[in-house]
Amino acid sequence: MTDTTATDSPATDSTSPRQPEPPLAILLELTHRCPLRCAYCSNPLTLTPASQELDTAGWREVLRQAADMGMLQVHFSGGEPMARSDLTELVAYASELGLYSNLITSGVLLDAPRLAALQQAGLNHVQLSFQGLEDTQADRLSGFRGGVAKKQAALALVQQSGLALTLNFVITRSNAHELDAMLHYADQHGIARVEVANTQYYGWGLQNRSALIPSEAQLDAMTATVTQWREHTRGRMVIDYVIPDYYARRPKACMGGWAQRFLNVMPDGTLLPCHAAQTLAHLQFPRVPHSTLAAAWYDSPAFAAYRGTSWMPEPCGGCEHKERDFGGCRCQALALAGSADTLDPVCERSPQHEHVVTLARREAQLGEQPYTLRSFSFTA
Ligand code: FES
Repeated sequence: MTDTTATDSPATDSTSPRQPEPPLAILLELTHRCPLRCAYCSNPLTLTPASQELDTAGWREVLRQAADMGMLQVHFSGGEPMARSDLTELVAYASELGLYSNLITSGVLLDAPRLAALQQAGLNHVQLSFQGLEDTQADRLSGFRGGVAKKQAALALVQQSGLALTLNFVITRSNAHELDAMLHYADQHGIARVEVANTQYYGWGLQNRSALIPSEAQLDAMTATVTQWREHTRGRMVIDYVIPDYYARRPKACMGGWAQRFLNVMPDGTLLPCHAAQTLAHLQFPRVPHSTLAAAWYDSPAFAAYRGTSWMPEPCGGCEHKERDFGGCRCQALALAGSADTLDPVCERSPQHEHVVTLARREAQLGEQPYTLRSFSFTA
């Protein structure tokens, strides 16, 4: 799974044609298979079947090339990466290559022997997601019955192992009222790092936006809760806070800028600068083994298309924030403004900004709506 945190990036001189820096990290979407059927899933509408996933040798080659390029971190994601029976082997190989490894998991497939094997293989960090602490809401959002108890059991195992851990609380209109309880739970359990992540609206999640998006009043309450808990837990718990950026004044530097920090690999080996890039149908994305990672990163027109600032239209080109937010999210610009070549409409300088805020406000007033859950026959 992929990360859409609305954080700023340090300014870089990205207008010159010099060779880009290598990516910092690679995100491997090992599989789209998942026991959960989350309404907010940011994976594409059409998922990659198991038969088209890279095999173990294919993923090992991806890891080797990532290390050769100088990348430092690998995120094992999905779908549910634990659905891959070769996960431990891949973690061991990443460790051998000197890559810092992070497992992004729902936790529902985690048990003590599997975790011990992963730790022995050199896993460095676990990111464990919760869709809330109330069974009814969490089950409804994830399409998985009894997930809260399984995740609590997974949390206990990870804590016993001593592995570094981040708890990821997924927030929507229906569970925003639980935020105080979630942070209390995290503090009670001595968690050092928490993400409070409002869902973003990509892929499958975009279809459910009107059922997911919180109101501005909920957002204000969340911000106050996060502020209080940051104060209360200062020095012992770090809280990262991702808001629904439809209400933001400035766009997020999506992925730290297009093709500037992260390289995503889809289950079939397609190489992307972000998890939603395949919605940009005018771009041709390379794929392993037909392309190397380095050729994709340094030579592919698709990766170069929105890198840096030279592609920007006005008013982005003259904006003092352009090297911080890089014009926002290209995939969101396409989804909301109909073109990836324009500024992200969540920016207050966009002519479509008011439309986006009005849309969000209107949808947020709809009350509890049914979700359309993913349907994917799951086999581990
Ligand atoms: Fe933001 Fe693709 S998801 S650029």
